[in-house]
Amino acid sequence: MQSFIEKMPKAELHVHLEGTLEPELSFALAAKNGVELAYKTPEALVAAYDFYDLPSFLAIYYAGMNVLVEEDDFYQLTYAYLTKARSQETLYAELFFDPQAHTSRGVSFDTVMIGIHQAQVDAEKNLGIKSQLIMCFLREMSAESAMQHLALAKPYRHWLVGVGLDSDERNNPPIKFAEVFAEAKEMGLKLTMHCDVNQQNTLVHIKQCIDDIQVDRIDHGVNSLESEALCDLIKDKKIGLTVCPVSNQFVVQSLTSDEIHQMLKKDMLVTINSDDPAYFRAYLNENLIELQKEGKFNQKQIVTLVGNAFKVAWLDNATQNGYLQQLQHYVSQYT
Ligand code: ADE
Ligand code: ZN
Repeated sequence: MQSFIEKMPKAELHVHLEGTLEPELSFALAAKNGVELAYKTPEALVAAYDFYDLPSFLAIYYAGMNVLVEEDDFYQLTYAYLTKARSQETLYAELFFDPQAHTSRGVSFDTVMIGIHQAQVDAEKNLGIKSQLIMCFLREMSAESAMQHLALAKPYRHWLVGVGLDSDERNNPPIKFAEVFAEAKEMGLKLTMHCDVNQQNTLVHIKQCIDDIQVDRIDHGVNSLESEALCDLIKDKKIGLTVCPVSNQFVVQSLTSDEIHQMLKKDMLVTINSDDPAYFRAYLNENLIELQKEGKFNQKQIVTLVGNAFKVAWLDNATQNGYLQQLQHYVSQYT
């Protein structure tokens, strides 16, 4: 099963680029940019990763970003992730990034965009991994700030496929950003929002995502299982759920394999993803392999999970079908 998963063509739909910053690259960039790190070695930095809920993770995640200063830093970050993903047979990735976490430190929006985009172009050409970009707004920041960043993105509209909402969900409901997301939809961008596991008012937030924002996907959304009506809505509207097992484990001490089984049983379009792989020490393969072990998923169920990611990817039908055929071909050759 491990080798079946490792060699399988895959798609990743929930990965934060800033969450792919490996300690070694962090140290190299810190030295180049004259940024002081709180730890002496990459190993010591990893040893200090201690996450037990979303805020405890976010504090370390934002501190880690200080080493990203120049355009080439964003290039290196993105190219390194795409290289790693391609080595795991991830053929397609949709990448989140958090521009407000950089502009708030004095890094220009253009620096971030150009560095990331150039790496995407080069990785597609050199490595054969296709990727698209999703601009996230930080939900503890104001709706005005989100709107200003959407305006900054207008000249780069065609470098983006969608917008998302991430960071601290507590007291920051989807509805706070209704206007920004309506404007993004007008621009022809796809919409997704985080509904992190076990957040306060999670069912209200999930319902707002569907009814008020009209999202195309939900990131995480595991708690939807607590409401049959929500599950039916998600299924009827074919809303993809980007679940991140290893990330969830830091909060609920389980890879949520029972919940993923339930979603599969209900024919919900659940997908498996890595979230912040450099911090959680698990890329897509490790997430799938650990999940399979915990939940004893069979081959068919793993193929459904991976196939769902291609099905709910923001791609045209022909490209999507091409990937699905590649997956089917792999499975038929393997079995
Ligand atoms: N930003 C980066 N990772 C995140 C997560 N898992 N939830 C919310 N915001 C994030
Ligand atoms: Zn996330």
